[in-house]
Amino acid sequence: MVNKVGLVGWPVEQSISPAMHNAAFWALGLTDWSYELLPVPPDIVRQSLKTLRDEGGFIGVNVTVPHKQAVMPYIKPDERARAIGAVNTIDFRDGSGTNTDVVGFLDDLKANGVNAAGMNVLVLGAGGAARAAVYGLARCSAKVTVVNRTIDRAREMVTDLVATAGIQNVHVEMLDDAAEQPIDLIVNCTSVGMWPNIDDSPWITGVPFPRNVMLYEMVYRPENTALMHQTVARGGHAIGGLGMLVRQGAAAFELWTGKQAPLEVMFEAARQALGAKSK
Ligand code: ATR
Repeated sequence: MVNKVGLVGWPVEQSISPAMHNAAFWALGLTDWSYELLPVPPDIVRQSLKTLRDEGGFIGVNVTVPHKQAVMPYIKPDERARAIGAVNTIDFRDGSGTNTDVVGFLDDLKANGVNAAGMNVLVLGAGGAARAAVYGLARCSAKVTVVNRTIDRAREMVTDLVATAGIQNVHVEMLDDAAEQPIDLIVNCTSVGMWPNIDDSPWITGVPFPRNVMLYEMVYRPENTALMHQTVARGGHAIGGLGMLVRQGAAAFELWTGKQAPLEVMFEAARQALGAKSK
């Protein structure tokens, strides 16, 4: 019998998760495991989860855009997923759901030698990725300022996180005000700059870009975004988002298989798959 897992989203064709997970299964000799793409349109999410579990023989799934919030009522979210309001990993064996984006992000910061405790962090964005980042950063005792194109969405995100997770030290501001205060680390949680719009930057033209800051860029395609170039041009240091993608995948892999994920194998497979898609 094959132990199946996969990615539920709409669309999912561009995902590199199958390459990453299947390489990891092979590397550990888990040849009876496979990871599949599962395109599911929004109106049939509930039914699809049920079918995958009851008839498809699936152990679990990853969940991506636009379903991360929509699946919440159909599973048992853990404390972290409840606090963030989004699930990206489901285990059908016990019906639980978690959010491995937080672990992926925090592990990758750590792997890059960044300790966010006490840092002044500017988070760009207010979607699901931003929720995971703000939750994780607040838990690390960082001082967080959030800016977003739609400021009300940022306010709503912070209000929710205060209510669900009791986070502290998080404020919402306009970018021009935030840019005048000390910034140690910028975290881009928007989709701006993502392939194919590689010349776009979430930093508003006319607002001075801070000097000597660190950037964590959640966009991983392209490998170097316009925002990363801006950071380096102003004397800063930029970290791309591939590590977070790999590490959130590794956390899901470990949950499903109970085995330690072969990180290097997953990194290599992810890089190769990205390279192949860029051709
Ligand atoms: P995810 O769950 O991956 O975070 P999302 O919920 O669609 O995705 O959030 C995308 C983020 O990118 C949001 O913060 C969005 O800003 P709005 O809340 O104003 O929509 C931001 N974003 C997307 N396109 C943008 C653009 N062209 N300019 C500025 N921000 C943008």
